[in-house]
Amino acid sequence: MANTVIIGAQWGDEGKGKIVDMLSAQSQVIVRFQGGNNAGHTIKVKGEETILHLIPSGILHEGKVCLIGNGVVLDPTAFLGELDALAARGVDVSPARLGISKKTHLIMPYHKSLDKAREAKRAGQKIGTTGRGIGPCYEDKAARVGLRAGDLSDPELVRRKVSHALQEKNILLQELYKFDALDANTVCEELLALAPRLLPYLCDVEARIHEAVQDGQDVLFEGAQGIHLDIDHGTYPFVTSSNTVAGNAAIGSGIGPKHLNRVIGIVKAYTTRVGSGPFPTELMDDTGSYLQTKGHEFGATTGRPRRCGWLDAVILRETVRLNGLTDIALTKLDVLQNLPVLRICVAYEYEGKRLDYLPQEEGALGRVTPVFEEMPGFEEDICQCSSFDALPATVQAYVKRIEELIGVRASIISVGADRRQTILR
Ligand code: GDP
Ligand code: IMO
Ligand code: MG
Repeated sequence: MANTVIIGAQWGDEGKGKIVDMLSAQSQVIVRFQGGNNAGHTIKVKGEETILHLIPSGILHEGKVCLIGNGVVLDPTAFLGELDALAARGVDVSPARLGISKKTHLIMPYHKSLDKAREAKRAGQKIGTTGRGIGPCYEDKAARVGLRAGDLSDPELVRRKVSHALQEKNILLQELYKFDALDANTVCEELLALAPRLLPYLCDVEARIHEAVQDGQDVLFEGAQGIHLDIDHGTYPFVTSSNTVAGNAAIGSGIGPKHLNRVIGIVKAYTTRVGSGPFPTELMDDTGSYLQTKGHEFGATTGRPRRCGWLDAVILRETVRLNGLTDIALTKLDVLQNLPVLRICVAYEYEGKRLDYLPQEEGALGRVTPVFEEMPGFEEDICQCSSFDALPATVQAYVKRIEELIGVRASIISVGADRRQTILR
């Protein structure tokens, strides 16, 4: 199948978990390369739902190797919680098939406190983060003061780094944000108490991927979030703190970019967004509520309702360009059933001009007017369709129009949450 990168083409929650799970059947190694437990990836197999936040979505396939790369930020408690929940259901989560890079940065309790404290202070200007400490952890990585998974084998190093970090963070927490200070000793001892369980999982992720590639095995790279939440290319400042673009699969896992052969963008058949930030095609009416209810659009991580709107081809064109998409997987088509018309945003009007791509000035996306095209809706239930030809003509036309507007083929079409409800073209 070739080494494949899976990315979210919009603002997250496109159905990456489902598609990664499905493609894991044909891959030997599955790698997370950025983000942390801000992600919530849902997999449904024979009616049973699993939501993964950190562990790669290949874990339900016996024998596949799942790796967490250096680009991820890992909350040790969240990781072990997820591990235990899977083990309790009989999933093999032994170090033989699950590994964490020693270079992976650790999310510390003060990162979570700072994330919440900053959001609380941003009254009226909130980013709407997941509160998982993602931003502050990446800040420490860039500031070169972070703790990395490999540090767990050196308690003295852990104590030194935590005490150094808290000298600064406690001033911020207490004096600026009026939050509780954290005790360095307690933070260290709580982390070091988890070390014996975490250490067996630490490995040389780059070496394992390199060996797999040399052996001719297929590696699947599982992106989190969505392209328009990318720290550089997203709707800054309403973004996450990592690069979500496909290129980061190389950096965040330690593989040369020449080994990435295929890049699949996961595209929801409409658009959703959690948290704040511009969203040109957002629907504040009954159609928006319809999509939210029928699509169960509530966050897999925080439970927050997701904002819903029409499909935006401008956003997608930008995604194609930023990632070099080779194909797309179009998900949740079934959710559009019973809408009398389907609308697609094909361009924006901005300051008297028609734009095919996003304006780049901060905040400008909040001032564009979407130009819509209308297509007929469909009433047929498509959840059981197993081939493209079995889809009603109106649905086929909708898919083809999307392909035309963005110049990329939909090689996978998803018509339901279950692993089997997938059409391969
Ligand atoms: P991710 O973060 O991209 O992995 O997506 P989430 O898991 O957060 O959200 C996608 C939701 O849609 C999950 O509840 C999935 O079970 C569900 N889902 C995925 N594909 C389909 C589909 O084709 N149809 C329907 N109805 N639900 C889907
Ligand atoms: P998956 O992988 C949707 C959003 C948050 C917020 C912004 C910054 O399931 O698609 P952060 O906690 O990362 O600092 O929050 O990013 N966000 C997501 N939205 N899906 C996700 O992940 C997200 N991860 C972060 O809602 O707007
Ligand atoms: Mg999600």
